[in-house]
Amino acid sequence: MKIKTICCIGAGYVGGPTMAVIAQKCPHIKVIVVDINESRIAAWNDNDLNKLPVFEPGLDKIVEEARGRNLFFSTNVDQAIDEADMIFISVNTPTKTYGKGKGMAADLKYIELCARQIARVAKQDKIVVEKSTLPVRTASAIKNILDHTGNGVQFQILSNPEFLAEGTAVEDLLMPDRVLIGGDTSEAGKVAIQSLVDVYANWIPKERILTTNVWSSELSKLTANAFLAQRVSSINAMSVICEKTGADIDEVSKAIGMDSRIGSKFLKASVGFGGSCFQKDILNLVYIAKSYGLNEVADYWEQVIIMNDYQKNRFSDNIITKLYNTVSGKKITFLGWAFKKDTNDTRESPAIKVADNLLSEQAHIEVYDPKVTEERIYADLEYLNTRTNEENRSLLKVQNNPYNATQNSHAIAVLTEWDEFKTFDWQKIYDNMLKPAFVFDGRGILNTAELEKIGFICYKLGSGTRI
Ligand code: UDX
Ligand code: UDX
Ligand code: ADP
Repeated sequence: MKIKTICCIGAGYVGGPTMAVIAQKCPHIKVIVVDINESRIAAWNDNDLNKLPVFEPGLDKIVEEARGRNLFFSTNVDQAIDEADMIFISVNTPTKTYGKGKGMAADLKYIELCARQIARVAKQDKIVVEKSTLPVRTASAIKNILDHTGNGVQFQILSNPEFLAEGTAVEDLLMPDRVLIGGDTSEAGKVAIQSLVDVYANWIPKERILTTNVWSSELSKLTANAFLAQRVSSINAMSVICEKTGADIDEVSKAIGMDSRIGSKFLKASVGFGGSCFQKDILNLVYIAKSYGLNEVADYWEQVIIMNDYQKNRFSDNIITKLYNTVSGKKITFLGWAFKKDTNDTRESPAIKVADNLLSEQAHIEVYDPKVTEERIYADLEYLNTRTNEENRSLLKVQNNPYNATQNSHAIAVLTEWDEFKTFDWQKIYDNMLKPAFVFDGRGILNTAELEKIGFICYKLGSGTRI
């Protein structure tokens, strides 16, 4: 079956960039991205490409090329479903905040709403593709809803998990290590799989397009993220031992990463991993394991999260200890709020927890992040519900200039590895800070030897030779 029109429900960090790249690479396919969030769709349609709701290097150029040609953003979900041969579901699947599985299971209510909407609207056969990360066996739940509430049309469900990382989304979409497509093993299933393979084959070499059964595909996504997160927690666990023993985590990382069986990626010690996927997917895995009574398996993976929480708390505890056991009334500057560089996304960012801990000790925080908005930062704190919005707003300020943010500050904490932090005039920053001037580098990006020459007292994560 040749796909002529694709609809994607959900215009977020995954749906937006993925569809923009499909549209750019497949000018013969009409791609309609829909969302119930009107302001988000308006932002995707904004003539000012700086206003796109998702910041990703290179995305503006792709949107500029394809938008209005074969890429459209709309709030008319029904019409897009009706028009499309293939529908991607790319809505958010946050961790449940209520009821059974609270704090662990994925909340599938948005997915279910989509399935019901597709069932209600569809008048011809459709291929439905799950793009959001979902618990294993969600495809069969979607199929059930579609088959029992639909208008008698045939649905094929495919799982096509997203492996793009934020900050490198465009690159990852243009040249993915692999594309994974899971589908039904029946003849009709194979035809559906092939039609999606044909879409990707427009720019991706065939040998990089893997096809599996639906459940392998769903589980592979959770497994990939669990393995990546586990590497970060493993190296972070070692960073603590380095600080005690005098070893240096960057040296250890390099030494083990050169073993080709281990590999060099995802071995950068940090203040902790963040992002919308790692924690959510592992909690999901833990929940699935528990629901099958596999407690040892559940505990094994949960430890990755426990280690990550420890790393975040340890970072703020260390700041307090080094600042003579009190940060009350002291100004601390945060460089970075995003969960990693080159994105404006802050979901599960370690900066949020570190800030919350320090605010509870009555610190005054000033944040500078090149891409994250002030409203986002306050919303992240408000979501925690630790204190009132007024208290958050009086204790924490957001600055759009790093030199103002560091003026009269007792300490600087690096929470995101933005490249521009390395190019700051650190002498100027030092001159305008209170003394002793502390730097706590939670991302290991600064040249601490140079900073120490200027006069800073430096803490480098995972390095036993510093304070
Ligand atoms: C290991 C290290 O690889 C080596 O670098 C170090 O110097 C000594 O310890 P070794 O114990 O000889 O070497 O064998 P290795 O190939 O690492 O396998 C260890 C065990 O893991 C074996 O029982 C092997 O069967 C098992 N294994 C390994 C798996 O079950 N699955 C795998 O994918 C790899
Ligand atoms: C991740 C997966 O990489 C991607 O394949 C999947 O589709 C979605 O989840 P993302 O969350 O965008 O992508 O970012 P990623 O680059 O994986 O980083 C996650 C977190 O781990 C970040 O907070 C990052 O700073 C941290 N990290 C990563 C480290 O602390 N050290 C590392 O060595 C690598
Ligand atoms: P992700 O990182 O998975 O892309 P986002 O939260 O960035 O997650 O994007 C998900 C998008 O899905 C949001 O813009 C949200 O408004 C949209 N969405 C959620 N439910 C529906 C729905 N039933 N119909 C259309 N859009 C939806």
